[in-house]
Amino acid sequence: MSTTDERPLASADEPESPTNRPGSMHLVKQWLQRPYVRRLLWITVAITAVIIALSFVMVAFMNMSGGPGSAIMNEIEKTMFVLTFTCAPLMAGTLAVLTYSWWGGWGSVASRDEPTSDGPAIQTNGVAVVTWITVCSVLAAFLVVWGLVELATITSDSYGSVPANQQPNSAKPVVVNVTGQQWLWSFDYPDSGNIKSDQLVLPVNVPAYFNVTSLDVVHSFWVVEEGVKIDANPGAITNTGFTPTKLGTFNVRCAELCGLHHAYMETQVKVVTQEQFNSWIREQGGTTTS
Ligand code: CUA
Repeated sequence: MSTTDERPLASADEPESPTNRPGSMHLVKQWLQRPYVRRLLWITVAITAVIIALSFVMVAFMNMSGGPGSAIMNEIEKTMFVLTFTCAPLMAGTLAVLTYSWWGGWGSVASRDEPTSDGPAIQTNGVAVVTWITVCSVLAAFLVVWGLVELATITSDSYGSVPANQQPNSAKPVVVNVTGQQWLWSFDYPDSGNIKSDQLVLPVNVPAYFNVTSLDVVHSFWVVEEGVKIDANPGAITNTGFTPTKLGTFNVRCAELCGLHHAYMETQVKVVTQEQFNSWIREQGGTTTS
């Protein structure tokens, strides 16, 4: 005689009663032993691995121009990984059911002599209900806490809470006034003789602080590899900032639909050494303090 329990799951012929009703844990174990459930779990594991691999490929593509260029972008990439890893099994589970059905997996259930009756009810199954609620609550709580901590970290890194011009002298930033207009960016440096440039140049490892505005419609100042983006509104000044930690040339784009040439409203940020920055300022006819 087989050692596995051959009792059929509850059916219309034999209604469950308190005496013949199998325990919750037993029903869950029985369910996990069904071949199609095991196949679905394996497909879920495989798809999870694919999603996680793809997330690394995607971030590698994002960094082809040399990013991440700041601590902020580091945090953003970390958060993208954490959110992807957390959500991948859920997405994979959904895709597993979809692909299994697509390949006719369910159609073969009857031919393989697998049970065709309903599985154990979830509503009255204590183990299933407690597992479901616990897993969902822990995941949701984790994401909320992670999000709040990251938001606070990024906000302080971008001077969202303490403006750079109120920071101690040791962290004195380069101030840049950023102006958006259809369809170009311009930058002026009020502390260096008000020189103007259509390319953003910044010294490495020195905080940069931006006063952002627009001459016409709403644009959005997006320094891609530095992980900073803020609206440029006509008649108002918005502020953001970051400390570039990597030498190189990165992208500055407009991230708000602003008319015909929105897609071409882009320039570059050159992150250079302090000496290169000073000589650039002097070349432009500006003044340097050092
Ligand atoms: Cu400016 Cu889009």
